[in-house]
Amino acid sequence: MDRIILFISLFIQGIAFFIALFYLRRMPKFVGIFILILLSFMLLRGVLNLTGFFKAEISEILVLLVSIFIFLAIIGASNLYKEFDRMLKVLKGLWEIDRVILSGLTPRSIMGGIKKTMVELIDCDGFGIYTYNQAKNALSLYENYNLDDEIHKGIMEKENGILWKIIRERKYTMLSNSRNDNNFSDFLKSKNYSTLIGLPLIQKSNTLGALVFLSHKKSYSRKEIQYIEGIGRQVVIALDKIQTIERIKEMDIEIVFALVQAIETRDPSTKGHSLQVANIAVELTKIFGHSERELELVRYAGLLHDVGKIAVPEAILNKPSSLNEEEWKVMRKHPVISAEIVKPIKDLGEIEKWIFYHHERWDGTGYPEGLKGREIPFFSRILAICDTYSAMVSDRPYRKGLTDESAREEIKNYSGKQFDPEIVEMFLTLSKEFLKRLIEKTDAPS
Ligand SMILES: [Fe+2]
Repeated sequence: MDRIILFISLFIQGIAFFIALFYLRRMPKFVGIFILILLSFMLLRGVLNLTGFFKAEISEILVLLVSIFIFLAIIGASNLYKEFDRMLKVLKGLWEIDRVILSGLTPRSIMGGIKKTMVELIDCDGFGIYTYNQAKNALSLYENYNLDDEIHKGIMEKENGILWKIIRERKYTMLSNSRNDNNFSDFLKSKNYSTLIGLPLIQKSNTLGALVFLSHKKSYSRKEIQYIEGIGRQVVIALDKIQTIERIKEMDIEIVFALVQAIETRDPSTKGHSLQVANIAVELTKIFGHSERELELVRYAGLLHDVGKIAVPEAILNKPSSLNEEEWKVMRKHPVISAEIVKPIKDLGEIEKWIFYHHERWDGTGYPEGLKGREIPFFSRILAICDTYSAMVSDRPYRKGLTDESAREEIKNYSGKQFDPEIVEMFLTLSKEFLKRLIEKTDAPS
């Protein structure tokens, strides 16, 4: 009897040894090595006992129980580590989606980044991201991964379509072929799909659309569903940002001005800043003798130069302390986004470049491209000086505004470094009183 128990113990110890070896990398090193040494001793003891070289006064039943315990502990620990690994992967994926949402400038780049992460994270054979237009009561495919048109058509089919049901009921849905679900359409069966997971994309009372995953896999665990739901929530945030960007592009210029006010409301310390930049830029441009059209355009450029701050999170805009490197990266994107927003506005195409380069510096240390000297468009160089002067003389929550004299001194000091010396020279010809009037003016220059 003891011999049979010994055989069973050795068998369990052997399997436990190989599993421990296999999962060694997933365990803390010292635990893995300790288990391997322990199992080696137990195996050696068992083999010596079997061959009659060694006879320890120890109950074989006890050895068997210890072997079973170690075996179960290794299986449990390895599953735990597997789950931990997966969780880490999901967290990294969610972080990546956050990053894409935060830094993406165009709908394409945002959705492209999200699709890539979803393909890496979700165990499925294809998915579709569908948007729902409430006003038109219409659905359309926004992004596709690995599904053909026929499948999308089938999913979006009006009457009994699965997607319409998800949109109507605003509920997570899982349909499975293996459960003989009546709703599991014949065409999905014919394509050999076994499971469909549908998630409505809900933002407060609005249904923005739905996510549909198709898989040949028979079932999904609760954890997997939770991960998918987490990603669905991120997609809602992304779609919301995308729709905001698209809406802005459709707006006409008056509405964009309203947007300037909205930005100043988000960042109250810069209230009136865009108007001040526009006012000073127009007067400075007049000295250089430019045309009426250019004066009009520079006025728009002054008003809209920081409109891209709409994409900068409030937590960064209003941060009372200095920004960290990651936050600066986001902040430095605002001229690029401003230009993106202005680009499609009728008749304002020319100012896109001026706005894009308004944070470049004469010595080439600015952003976004580090242009130098006259490589920087003339009106961007004008905006840079007006922008800095307005910012310097205005009060901020953390400091009082500089006097006109100190601000002028600063601009003089940075002539040839941050600013075009020729424009600085012209700027300094504007009198203190005149600049004060421009700063205090509450209507746009004409
Ligand atoms: Fe700016």
